[in-house]
Amino acid sequence: MSHIIAPSILSANFLALEKDIKMVNDSQAGWLHVDIMDGVFVPNISFGMNIVKQIKKVSTKPLDVHLMIVNPDKYLEEFKRAGANILSVHYEACNHLHRTLDGIRNLDMKTGVAINPHTPISVLEDIISETDVVCMMSVNPGFGGQSFIENTYQKIEQLKELIYKRGSSTAIEVDGGVNIGNYEKLLACGADVLVAGNAVFSAENPAQMINKLSEPVLNYTTV
Ligand code: DX5
Ligand code: ZN
Repeated sequence: MSHIIAPSILSANFLALEKDIKMVNDSQAGWLHVDIMDGVFVPNISFGMNIVKQIKKVSTKPLDVHLMIVNPDKYLEEFKRAGANILSVHYEACNHLHRTLDGIRNLDMKTGVAINPHTPISVLEDIISETDVVCMMSVNPGFGGQSFIENTYQKIEQLKELIYKRGSSTAIEVDGGVNIGNYEKLLACGADVLVAGNAVFSAENPAQMINKLSEPVLNYTTV
């Protein structure tokens, strides 16, 4: 499978959101990443389902909604109604993760489990076959534009091995600090989906940046 770039709308210009969404529509992006923050699970507040609904009206890309909220079970249906195609909840926010994933699947959305940088891959052993995506945080969630945490590379490799061992088809998504300098190594380690906020929206030509990050990487070598 070739990889997917998911531009993160958090870094877009909210005064010209429609223009930025259309730019993503016309690019080679695979998904549009939508960050929901509640000011409790993470120390920041982004926006709610009403904005997601507006985004959905314009976006032609699947909406990859990343819930950084406590009690996500309360809102699964609302995010479905707002237009989410992939719905990720945080491992750290769910007491009954298996049930939550069932709830997402029963609403006909793809399931995602997001994990914070301090959360080990081993906790996913008994849930990996239940989820379509693991969203591996490569920054502490809450803000765009942070620096990539290097330990992520070895976690991707561990997760890839777990997925292989269990014979599951879970996609590995990497979220936070992805840029032109690290994306090739992330893909070489086994990432399938790369979220990119700041790298895209602060680029001189955002569409060109998305397309560049979407190019297949053939021969990555570390020096
Ligand atoms: C961080 C969010 C990310 C963020 C990524 O809490 O989950 O999706 O928008 O932004 P960059 O690519 O700028 O790190
Ligand atoms: Zn995110």
